[in-house]
Amino acid sequence: MDYENTAEASEMSPHVLLFPLPIQSPINSMLQLAELFCLAGLQVTFLNTNHNQQLLCRHTDVQSRFSQYPKFRFLTISDGLPEEHPRSFGELISSLQAVAEPFLREVLLLTEEPAVTCVIPDALFYYAVDIGNEMGVSVIPFDTISPCCLWVYLSFPNLIQAGDIPFKGNELDMLIENVPGMKGLLRRRDFPFYRLTNCETDLFCQLALKEIHSIPRSHGLILNTFEDLDGPLLSLIRSHCPQTYVVGPLQLQLKTRLADHKRIMSSSNSLWEEDLSSIQWLDAQPIESVIYVSFGSLATLTKGEILEFWHGLVNSGIRFLWVMRSNLSREEEFNHQFVKELADGCKERAYVVTWAPQEKVLAHPAIGGFLTHSGWNSTMESIVQGKPMICWAVYVDQRVTSRFVGEVWKIGLDMKDICDRYIVEKEVKDLMVTNKDKFKKSVDKLSMLAKNSVGQGGPSYNAFQYLVDDIKKLGRRDKDIYINPSSIG
Ligand code: UDX
Repeated sequence: MDYENTAEASEMSPHVLLFPLPIQSPINSMLQLAELFCLAGLQVTFLNTNHNQQLLCRHTDVQSRFSQYPKFRFLTISDGLPEEHPRSFGELISSLQAVAEPFLREVLLLTEEPAVTCVIPDALFYYAVDIGNEMGVSVIPFDTISPCCLWVYLSFPNLIQAGDIPFKGNELDMLIENVPGMKGLLRRRDFPFYRLTNCETDLFCQLALKEIHSIPRSHGLILNTFEDLDGPLLSLIRSHCPQTYVVGPLQLQLKTRLADHKRIMSSSNSLWEEDLSSIQWLDAQPIESVIYVSFGSLATLTKGEILEFWHGLVNSGIRFLWVMRSNLSREEEFNHQFVKELADGCKERAYVVTWAPQEKVLAHPAIGGFLTHSGWNSTMESIVQGKPMICWAVYVDQRVTSRFVGEVWKIGLDMKDICDRYIVEKEVKDLMVTNKDKFKKSVDKLSMLAKNSVGQGGPSYNAFQYLVDDIKKLGRRDKDIYINPSSIG
């Protein structure tokens, strides 16, 4: 079948296909983007894996929430793994690619209404750019990691050429001087792959390289940040991708646009069941007295690290609400009984849940700080709510982001790599008591700038409008003509 983006195509109405990474954080941001597109009147298809769609439907009202938008639909595919598979990130990504590549080609071949006019994949799905280009459909990747990490990725070719990566030797405090804009800041221990000894064999390094090669071949790039937070790096990123739409913080953009439509922000996009008792517990705590502890949806800790955090928190004397996911540790002794014993040991000042309504938790007046793994959504959510952070970064963008939290934005402390109860105790007291006002002042300023950026006329508000306008033009595009070679002769 031929796909011809011809004069007839100019009659096509704009239709975006969103394709998130099959993990919590990108699903959350992509659903926010999907709802924003629905409010803008676009036709939207959200491509989710069967596995995640089931979890989403089990734990949220996502189906009924989106049913109010007649031009929205979910589309699901297998991620290629059996249901009981543990779905490690690497296996999930390669297995999904094998299913998604032919699937995307088929979907983009469909010319009957509503034909897809623009694909918005997670930027890690570099192959979607090739497929779109091959078939004459514009692709605008959404990079759901932190822009500071994306900029490090985009600098990889320079770093390889300069001999900075792969690393020689084990000196983790050595500075990496060849990332423009980060001179004197970025140490090896802040690098996304901080023990990188071989770029060819490191799966994640290879994925990052493929991603950055696909970005300049895309129609544009979407980032979930705001100009006042990442301005200097955004200029550098734009030297690789001039059409970079900076539309964050997305949850605030959505809140503003829903209000424009006289609607209110509704419920969650969680793949796990939210324990609402955490909010009741917070209701009974004094203002800014509690530190929220959560390591996101994927990061794991050893049982030893969990115990160091626990003792440090208990010894600090500060109240805490801790999300202990059932898969927070892969070690066998970490089980329900172990968690229960920990929680029972400090009932008067601590509360433990397996999954929390995080955005509501961070918005709660009883929360004074956030001990986080520095996932990009968690970081943005914390900034939006004006909560300073202690960062325990585990991998990838978290390592760069945490450095920025501590040294650039100065809205918290970067613990990094040394996890013992004395350090935890000291940093918790520092964040919540000793330097509380200093951190609060810096993060409140950013929070206000974030709100301004998505207010009417603000840079993120305008950027979203440009994005929608550009997508509408793509629907009328009449230049690219693609004829499937297999159909000739
Ligand atoms: C993954 C990667 O680990 C991270 O490096 C990258 O920046 C994004 O993708 P994840 O572990 O999912 O991140 O963390 P994060 O980006 O912080 O997102 C977690 C999401 O889950 C947040 O939106 C948060 O609100 C939500 N959440 C988390 C809950 O709703 N409840 C919880 O109990 C914990």
